[in-house]
Amino acid sequence: MRKKVTVVGAGNVGANCAVRIADKELADVVLVDVVEGVPQGKGLDLLQSGPVQGYDVNITGANDYEATANSDIVIITAGVPRKPGMSRDDLLLANYEVIKTATVQVAKYSPDSIINCRHQSARRHGAGRVPDLEVQQEPRRRHGGHTG
Ligand SMILES: NC(=O)c1ccc[n+]([C@@H]2O[C@H](COP(=O)([O-])OP(=O)(O)OC[C@H]3O[C@@H](n4cnc5c(N)ncnc54)[C@H](O)[C@@H]3O)[C@@H](O)[C@H]2O)c1
Repeated sequence: MRKKVTVVGAGNVGANCAVRIADKELADVVLVDVVEGVPQGKGLDLLQSGPVQGYDVNITGANDYEATANSDIVIITAGVPRKPGMSRDDLLLANYEVIKTATVQVAKYSPDSIINCRHQSARRHGAGRVPDLEVQQEPRRRHGGHTG
């Protein structure tokens, strides 16, 4: 059976992740974003590019996490990107709630997934370190972060 990857955040980083995954036919992709219509529209664009680009994976978009159920990998890109004058530490608080919410939902629908958090300060506020998350005690859960 084909693998399933959820990408949370359908912005610059998220949409590019989806393109790379589709191009290499690594997995079916579900894009999730809070903005209505955006993940659905980007997902449809990518799906319809398949015959032209030569890939055959399913790509969908959603504003909630039900469609993400049983994902193998979840890549969290949702949040606020750094603006001029902002330090990486400034991003920490801005993105804390976003990552927390996403992680709780991911754990609910895909309890065996690997979570990869793309935020630059992920080591400090990454999904595995949100202190009040019960999921951090889940032994099967694997978290990864990426720092710039
Ligand atoms: N690790 C790296 O090298 C690297 C590189 C670039 C960006 N980043 C980080 O990645 C993150 C995203 O950057 P971007 O350029 O894609 O930003 P972006 O603004 O283009 O996209 C962010 C998306 O997240 C969505 N979003 C916001 N809150 C959400 C929520 N609660 N649930 C679901 N979606 C939500 C927004 O609607 C938006 O579509 C930023 O934090 C940025 O700092 C990391």
